Amino acid sequence: MSSPNGQRLRRRVWLDTDMGFDDLAAVLMLQHAANVEIAGMSLCAGNAPLPVVRRSAALAAACFGWAFPITAGAGAALNGSSVTAQSVLGEDAMRSAGLGLGDVVKTELAEIADAEFPLAELAESAESVEVLALGPLTNLARWMQAPASRQRIASITWMGGSAGPGNHTAAAEFNAFVDPEAAQIVIAEAAKVGIPFKMVGLDACRQVRVRAADAANLRAIGTQKAALLADLLLGYVRIPDPSGQSPMSVYDPTAAALWLQPELTTWRPACVDVELVGHHTRGMTVCEFRVPRKAQANAEVAGAVDEAAVRAMVLAALAAASS
Ligand code: BDR
Ligand code: CA
Repeated sequence: MSSPNGQRLRRRVWLDTDMGFDDLAAVLMLQHAANVEIAGMSLCAGNAPLPVVRRSAALAAACFGWAFPITAGAGAALNGSSVTAQSVLGEDAMRSAGLGLGDVVKTELAEIADAEFPLAELAESAESVEVLALGPLTNLARWMQAPASRQRIASITWMGGSAGPGNHTAAAEFNAFVDPEAAQIVIAEAAKVGIPFKMVGLDACRQVRVRAADAANLRAIGTQKAALLADLLLGYVRIPDPSGQSPMSVYDPTAAALWLQPELTTWRPACVDVELVGHHTRGMTVCEFRVPRKAQANAEVAGAVDEAAVRAMVLAALAAASS
């Protein structure tokens, strides 16, 4: 995004995350991006229960020098249910091949406060934020129903849903499956009040992949943080194949890259509806691309992604965070 004289404009982002390793990598991308201010971060249960997410965020903040405010939001989905990805991602959702955040951070951790509406303090400020949501949309659904918080949201980009198959179930992507009611509320409310909503779904993210060799390159930087990030990246790569021979898709970092550089994908207008009742399809994001003929568009959905460019952005950010 440029000003009339061609200068890159500063952008203000609010992050909402369930703090697995791919969330961490996405945050590091924004931290090391030019002309981006992280206004704050809110946490929600998802990859792991909220206390675990909270501890990971506190450790990451200490490790990587995060100075922005962090608050803890929803500990369960709007309907009270709790689904995690711990069986896949590990107890702390950061399955490592060696070092974990807790092995590296030895300082006392900052307290992370609870806040039902983490954007409430922003409502006082004249500046709006672009929201990048990297987990289930429970927090955001609450804020969207609170006009004072909502009015400071300039746009929402969400890593979640899919215009193809799911991962948590055959039909549903994990973030959508954990709280389908929240996703439906956010998409509908955003359309109602005119907040642009972008969905970076599984099908977009699966085009971008990392490999064991990427972890080895990171380790070669030679610092303790490089060793930590290399172990976390290798642990992540080994999720689908413990031998580490197969590549692994990067989800939240792809959404961060497309937020930073929207031109790295093709955005297609669509009417996105979230399946709330299907026995086999609950959490499915049904994308009607035949707009406006069949329905009114309420979202833009990421399509073909420039894999080389996004991969380079992810790996450059991990390298920058390693020094
Ligand atoms: C999404 O689910 C989580 O496990 C990841 O952090 C990502 O946000 C991918 O389906
Ligand atoms: Ca996530």
